This record gives sequence, structure tokens and C-alpha cells, in this order.
Amino acid sequence: MTLLDIFPSLRSGGMLPRLDPSVWPRETHYDADGRITVGGVALADIADQYGTPTYILDETEVRSRCQAYRRQFPDAEVLYAGKALLTRAVAEWVTEEGLSLDVCSAGELAVALSSWVNPQRIMLHGNGKPFAELETAINCGIGRVVIDSLTEITLLSALASTPQRVLLRVCPDVDVHGHPAVRTGVADQKFGFTIGSHALSEAVERIVRQPNLEFAGLHCHIGSQIYDTFPYGEAIRRMIGEMARIRDDYGVTLGTLDIGGGHAVAYRPGDAEMNLAELADIIEDSLDAACARYAFPRPTIAMEPGRAIVARAGITLYRVLSIKHVEGGHTFVTVDGGMSDNPRVTLYGARYEAVVANRHPTGPHMTANIAGRYCEAGDILATDVRLPADLRPGEVLAMPCTGAYHHSLSSSYNGVGRPPIIAVRDGSTRELVRRETIEDLMRRDIGH
Ligand code: LLP
Repeated sequence: MTLLDIFPSLRSGGMLPRLDPSVWPRETHYDADGRITVGGVALADIADQYGTPTYILDETEVRSRCQAYRRQFPDAEVLYAGKALLTRAVAEWVTEEGLSLDVCSAGELAVALSSWVNPQRIMLHGNGKPFAELETAINCGIGRVVIDSLTEITLLSALASTPQRVLLRVCPDVDVHGHPAVRTGVADQKFGFTIGSHALSEAVERIVRQPNLEFAGLHCHIGSQIYDTFPYGEAIRRMIGEMARIRDDYGVTLGTLDIGGGHAVAYRPGDAEMNLAELADIIEDSLDAACARYAFPRPTIAMEPGRAIVARAGITLYRVLSIKHVEGGHTFVTVDGGMSDNPRVTLYGARYEAVVANRHPTGPHMTANIAGRYCEAGDILATDVRLPADLRPGEVLAMPCTGAYHHSLSSSYNGVGRPPIIAVRDGSTRELVRRETIEDLMRRDIGH
């Protein structure tokens, strides 16, 4: 039997392009008809059944990323940062895999609680937590709150009737040279207290004076989409130094150091990503060195990956609406989604790839820009993408690595409802979040 007998559609010429495992879920294949399948389901079938645009989420991929973290960091507490993507099912999957959960609002907390996540395994974050959110968190018995301001210390100690475990957010002043919108480790920004500052000392002093607050540790988050491990080592060395100073000045030995999230993923083949084994090594080495230097007992390390858990498990499906060859200019393939389901391109200059999902992309190709449907010239989802030259309206494009900060950042701009999230696993689909309809949008508009 030849390859052509197995894949008759290959007769149209050309070889199958590789679906690079660095940006697609592990269980991504071509079926006998040349269609892309993920988790055993053809993406084109999902587009037919649920419409487009649609977010796909591969459950097995999410779980296996959680398992990879548990394997690589057996002694650390791994908290999934729900801001990347939180639905009830995702909360369930990650906690079943042994992760804890980091939430940053009462809304995320509600999703977690409705999935019966043990509140003790939840940590609340945010530089601006409204009083009502702190109250909700305390009332549900949340495990830890990361304090970000002096005001919060007052509010929390007034709210807590039993000692509330808290961490204090510290800015270690480590520059990761990331996109300015997601650089959080440098001094003079809005999060936490700068390392070595008077404000930090004052916060520590106030926390240790409060009988209602149990000071559990320090927290830092140096940024996002970081592929270099060195800044984590540097942050750990500085944070242990600060923990030693707190011990010396206040007699409190903190047992937890939370180093935040920020681990990079590849969005396109060849992009750099965080190597977890290297990260584990640098964490060990810097802890050893810093704890020896300050004669400080090894704290438990906590970390909060968001993107690295869900990004590659997500794929967005679009249908081609039109194809326009601008004379002397670009080819624009307009799809039925855009900047409201993927604002990352306009926000951070992120770059994506896309492929046709309903047939083999064999034969001659063209280079095109994928244009969103929104009324802004900047609504371009991807540039210089190789697509079949005979691409037609109605065909399905799949954009990989769209699981993190896509649904969670999405909007209903231009009056277009947000896409649904469809989970795939072992050859079947399950709707996790339904499409936002025009009726949903109208229901909020009550101002006649
Ligand atoms: N922990 C804290 C305190 C955070 O602020 C964040 C993300 C994380 C953990 C998770 O970071 P991750 O591992 O996902 O990088 N919307 C941007 C990313 C914003 C990240 C905000 N904080 C994007 O789409 O690139």
C-alpha cells in the first residue's frame, strides 16, 4: 500500500505541511480527507456544528501541561493563573491535576467556587481589590490573599474574624525586557512594594502587628512571555535577601516564596519558549545559593503559570468571508472574527500563524494577511501567512496557540458576540461556554 492509497487527497500534489508540535496540541493530525483533527475531532466538523468563530480547547493538552509542571516541580506549589482562561471545566481540570488556583477578581473566584475548588487552594491577587471582593474572599474562606497596598492591610484585618493567611507583593526590580504592557518586575510601576523601600518596611510592620493576619510569605511576578530563566534566578536571590531582612528586623521567618508566572510559549514555529527543566535548575541553584548566603531556611516555592498551561491547547476557527488582492499591494483574506476575539495582535504586536483546516493545503500557495471583520484598519490577525492560492470563501482557517488571553480578553466590539469554547477530548466535543448572542447583548441594554 502506498501513501497515496492511505491519503487519496494527496493526489492533488505536494506534501503535507508539518503541524509544528511547538504550537499545536500534541494530538493534532490530518485525517484521510486531509482535514486537521485535534483530540480526534475534525476542526471543520466543529465549525459546521458550532459555527464560527469558535475557540477550541484540547482537554488532554491542558491536563498534560499541568502534569508536566507537577513532574518538573514536585516540591513546589503550582497555581494556575486563571486570568489566562477560566471556565468551570478548566478550573476542574487543573485542580484535578493537582494545581491550585490564582484568581484576581470576585468573578474568577465565583467560577472556581462553582466548580467546587477548595477555597483553601485559591489565592487572590490584584493591585486594586474592591472592598466587596475582599469581603467575598474572606467569607468564602479563601486560602491566601496577596496584599498589594497599605489600605488592603487595614481592610483585611477589619474583615477577618480568624487569622487570614496573606502574602505581600514585592517588586524585585528585575528587568525582563518584555513588552511594556506586561513588564511587572521593574521599580516604578503599579504593583506591590519595591524591594528595599520604606513603603515595604511599613507594610511588613503593619502586617506583623495585626493579630488577624498570618504573614505566610512574599510574592513577586516579574512579567509575562519570558523565555530567559536568568531573571527568575535573580528575583529569587533578591527575594530571599528580603526575607532574611524581614527575619532579622521583625523576627518572622516566612515559609513561602511565590515567584509568579510569566513562562513563554511559542506562538509560531521557531519562537523561543520557556524550558521548564532549565527553569527548575535555576530555581534550585538560586535557592541554594541565596539560602546559604543569608543562612535562611529553604522556603516552599509557589509559581503561577497561566499562558504556559492553556495557550497551546487552544485553537481559533474562522471562516473565510472574502479574498481581496489589492493591486500593487497585499492579499487580504477577511475572516468572520478579529480583534474582539483576539486583541493580542493590536495590544502587544503578537504574531500568529494560520492554516486551512478543511482540506490539505497542497498545491500552489499565496502569501496573505488575515484581516478581521472589525471596523479598524489595524484589525489584522496575521501577516504574511502562506495559504492555498485557490482559497475560497467558506473555507475554515485554524489559528493555533490561542488558548491563553484570548477568550479572557475578548470583547463584543462592533456588537459581535463572543465566540463559544468547545472542548475536544478522545474524539468528542463538549460545549464549555456558549456563543454570546445578540439577545445576550440586548439584555444588558435596559435604557429605553
Ligand atoms: N501571576 C500574576 C500575579 C500575574 O499578574 C500573571 C499575569 C500571572 C501570574 C500569569 O502570567 P502568565 O504565566 O500567563 O504569563 N494579557 C497579556 C498577559 C498579561 C499577564 C498578566 N499577568 C498577554 O496576552 O500577553
